[in-house]
Amino acid sequence: MRSMIRKRLIELFTSAPQDFVSSQQICDELGCSRTAVWKHIEDLRKEGYELEAVRRKGYRLLRKPDKISEDEILFGLETETFGRHIYFQEEVTSTQLIAHDLVNEGAPHGTLVVSDHQTKGKGRLQRNWHSPNGTGIWMSLIVRPDIPLHRAPQMTLLASVVITEAIEELTGLTPSIKWPNDILLNGKKVAGILTELRAEADQVHAVIIGPGINVNQTASDFPEELKHAATSVRMELGEKVDRAALIQKIMYIFEKRYDDYMTHGFAPIKHLWEAYTITLGERIIARTVNGQYTGKALGINDEGVLLLETAEGIQKIYSADIELKST
Ligand code: BTN
Repeated sequence: MRSMIRKRLIELFTSAPQDFVSSQQICDELGCSRTAVWKHIEDLRKEGYELEAVRRKGYRLLRKPDKISEDEILFGLETETFGRHIYFQEEVTSTQLIAHDLVNEGAPHGTLVVSDHQTKGKGRLQRNWHSPNGTGIWMSLIVRPDIPLHRAPQMTLLASVVITEAIEELTGLTPSIKWPNDILLNGKKVAGILTELRAEADQVHAVIIGPGINVNQTASDFPEELKHAATSVRMELGEKVDRAALIQKIMYIFEKRYDDYMTHGFAPIKHLWEAYTITLGERIIARTVNGQYTGKALGINDEGVLLLETAEGIQKIYSADIELKST
C-alpha cells in the first residue's frame, strides 16, 4: 500500500515536472489526509528527492535522485514492451547471469535486468567488467526475436547503434562505434556490450543484450589500468547525467529500431552502424584467438562479420580486439 502511494506521488510530480501540485490535489489523488501527504513528502525527501514547497501553491519537484530502481525507470517510460518488466537489485554478480535464469523461467520479450553494482561484471572475450556502485548503467535486456541463428550477431550491432543514438540524443555528445560494439567518446571507451545467445537447433530462443555504460564516474573511479582507455559520459559532458533518463531513452530507441529491424531487415541498421563507426576504411590490427591480422577494414557483411583486406587476401573477422593503426 505504502509503495503504491509512493509510486502515485512520484507519478504526480514527474508527469508535469515544472508545475506545482497542490496539497489538496495530492490528498484527492492519494485518498489520504494532509498530514499523511506531508509524511510521504518527507519520506521522498529522505530518499533524495528535492521538493520545493510554496504556500498556497503546493509542491514542485526540483530534482530526482540518481536512482535506477524499478519505479524510477518506469515513470516516464514511453515504450510498449521494452523495459516494461524490470528486475532490479542493488547488487548482483552479473545482470547477464540473472537474465539467463529469467530466460529459463520464461521471462517475456523486453524484460530488463538492472543493477547498481556488479561484483562479477562480465566483459567480452572472458574479461571482467569494472562495475562500481551507483555510477554506471549495468543492465541486460532479454529479447526474443524469431530469427535463425546466423542472424543473431546483427542484434549486437543493432544494440550498439541504439546506445550511440541514446547518448547522442540525451547529451548532444557525438559517440562513435569501434567494431563490433565498443562505444567511444573522444577515442576512449564509454560503453561496451556483451551479447549472449540462447538457441536450439537453428532457432534463436532469446538474446541477452548486456550493455555496460560508464555514466557518472569521475577519473578517480577508474582503476589505474583503465584510466588511459576509458571515460564516462559525465567526464566528457562536464556534468552528471540522470541514469534513469538514459535507460528510458535507450529502451525507447531500442523498441523503435528493433521493430524496424523485424519489419525491414538488417539493411537500415547496417547503414546506421556504418554511419557511426570509425573502423571502416582504417588500417587496423585485429587480435583474435587464432592470431593477429593486420589490414584495411573494408566493411561488415550481413552477419556483422568484419571484412579485412590483408596481404594474403580478404580475412573474415568474427570476434577480436581491434586496434586502429593510426591511433
Ligand atoms: C565489453 O567487454 O566491452 C562488454 C562489456 C559488457 C558489460 C555489461 S554490464 C551489464 C552486463 N552484465 C554483465 O555482466 N556484463 C554486461
